[in-house]
Amino acid sequence: MYYPEEVVEEVRMKNDIVDVISGYVHLQKKGANHFGLCPFHNEKSPSFSVSGSKQMFHCFGCGTGGNVFTFLMEYENCSFVEAVRLLADRAGVSLPEADDSEEARKREGRRARLLQVSREAAKYFYCCLRSGQGETGLRYLQGRRLSEETMKRFGLGFAPISGSQLVQYLHSRGYEDGLIREAGLAGFDERYGLHDKFWNRVMFPIQDINHRVIGFGGRVMGEARPKYLNSPETLIFDKGRNLYGLNFARTAKKGNIILCEGYMDVIAMHQAGFTQAVASLGTAFTEGQASLLKRYTEEVLLAYDSDEAGTRAGLRAIGILKGAGISCKVINMEPYKDPDEFISHLGTEAFQKRVEEAEGGFFFELRSMEREHDMRDPESKTAFYRRIAEKLCLFPEEIERENYLQAVAEKYGVSPKSLRELVAAQASRTGLVRPPTRPKSGIAEKNKRNTPEENKRRNQRLLFTWMTDEGGAYFPIIAKYISPEDFTDELYRQAAVRLFEKMKEGSFREADLVSMFSEGEEHREVAALLNERLEAVETIQEKEKALHDIILAVKKESWDYSCRKADQAEVMLRITEARKALEELSKTHISLKER
Ligand code: UTP
Ligand code: MN
Repeated sequence: MYYPEEVVEEVRMKNDIVDVISGYVHLQKKGANHFGLCPFHNEKSPSFSVSGSKQMFHCFGCGTGGNVFTFLMEYENCSFVEAVRLLADRAGVSLPEADDSEEARKREGRRARLLQVSREAAKYFYCCLRSGQGETGLRYLQGRRLSEETMKRFGLGFAPISGSQLVQYLHSRGYEDGLIREAGLAGFDERYGLHDKFWNRVMFPIQDINHRVIGFGGRVMGEARPKYLNSPETLIFDKGRNLYGLNFARTAKKGNIILCEGYMDVIAMHQAGFTQAVASLGTAFTEGQASLLKRYTEEVLLAYDSDEAGTRAGLRAIGILKGAGISCKVINMEPYKDPDEFISHLGTEAFQKRVEEAEGGFFFELRSMEREHDMRDPESKTAFYRRIAEKLCLFPEEIERENYLQAVAEKYGVSPKSLRELVAAQASRTGLVRPPTRPKSGIAEKNKRNTPEENKRRNQRLLFTWMTDEGGAYFPIIAKYISPEDFTDELYRQAAVRLFEKMKEGSFREADLVSMFSEGEEHREVAALLNERLEAVETIQEKEKALHDIILAVKKESWDYSCRKADQAEVMLRITEARKALEELSKTHISLKER
């Protein structure tokens, strides 16, 4: 970290979180906490809470949370270091000289260097586009109807024809070969040495939610292949966990997010006022991206290409979005290929109309299923209805299932009764998906909606919350059974190491745990760690049982994990040990009274 920990902590303690946030959000006191409308997602009733005693904020709607630094990072779109500076200024704390020595640079870490070099490259491309050698690029983008303002907003640029101009430029700015290669900006071969990866292309910098450049997509201006060349994944560029345009879309407050396939689609939509558009990064849509979106919206509108590949990708995305608990509609792009073409031919209003008419994801799935069946052939038609029944079985709630059943019956002109019979027949074969039930201990259910990995993480979060709840009263009891190594998620483990240390010293503070990390993403994760909802368990017996179950679950997962990591020879030994220990633990009564 850039500033010494003590200084960071001093700055934090001199900036009361309720005071600071009140400057941005209208807060009202309710019980121990303050509540207001969340500035990070669109909502009508307040689910954004700020705790003066914990010095943390948390939104129950979108899951964002953290300490006073996190809030500023999110709200002002700044880095951790900048947030520290802003708040130091506010409280009149003088910060030590920012240290630019070689050693300080090392401390700041590889990630920061990668971010710097990427930003530098983006600036370089940006300038090239506006210089003589960028003329073809500029003409190309203008030909695609992008305004000067749009190009600026997205930081578009141009990579010139020559072989190693960027590399030379970066050298002149003090960046070394290793870093330039690691950032994916150059390749190396025996004959030409280090050479630019991107040349003669218009450049689209890819930014994370805090507007930091993390990679690039470059498009040829003609028909050559590949059409788009993308940066490889690097320490700062995780293609499955970022979305193009989300840095703007997340504050668009349109009540939905439009998900499309291409960079140009996002840009064209933003230019037309649909600032809630995002795209995946030259790879298929992932679960990680869905959970990212879930933070900002409840509803995603798909604007995928209207061709067959687009439809297939769309169907896949619908499944993933549903899995993340996001409702999903599909925008009809016919007769055009993609949103960019649609808007440039028919204009904004026509697109707005398509947005309003977007079709529910379920019916979109049915329509594409329908195309695979011949409706004039009774057998094929029956098979189609059976598949509808199969899909209906997947609705966990009866009301929802019945509503869809009626809608389907009406749409396809079958009687609800016979459709219901088909569903019953199907259900007797494969069963209905059951609505998730919530056990009292709060232990994550093995339900289909969550991956096992997510369930494990949730259990670990629950235990974390147990350790810090009630001013840490349960910590000594839990620490008898659990150690930081039992947290299998790397970030959780790091946080646990610190928590154990501080708890033992008697100086644990929630908000301090957050400042250990410098990335907004990490802040959110730590905040989630401290805010997992504990189920309403009241009597002491219920509490003991709940705590016992959660300790057992985490311990078991930890042993499973270490067995998986161990060598073959060790495994058998460990399994036996773990079995014995688990059995022991499962019989142990954990008492909350003995403290
Ligand atoms: P499309 O081929 O649909 O291109 O690829 P597009 O977005 O309509 O682009 P224009 O309008 O022709 O300029 C959609 C997305 O797939 C990725 C890119 O992210 C692109 O935006 N892609 C496509 C690649 O990564 N490489 C390629 O060669 C092609
Ligand atoms: Mn296109």
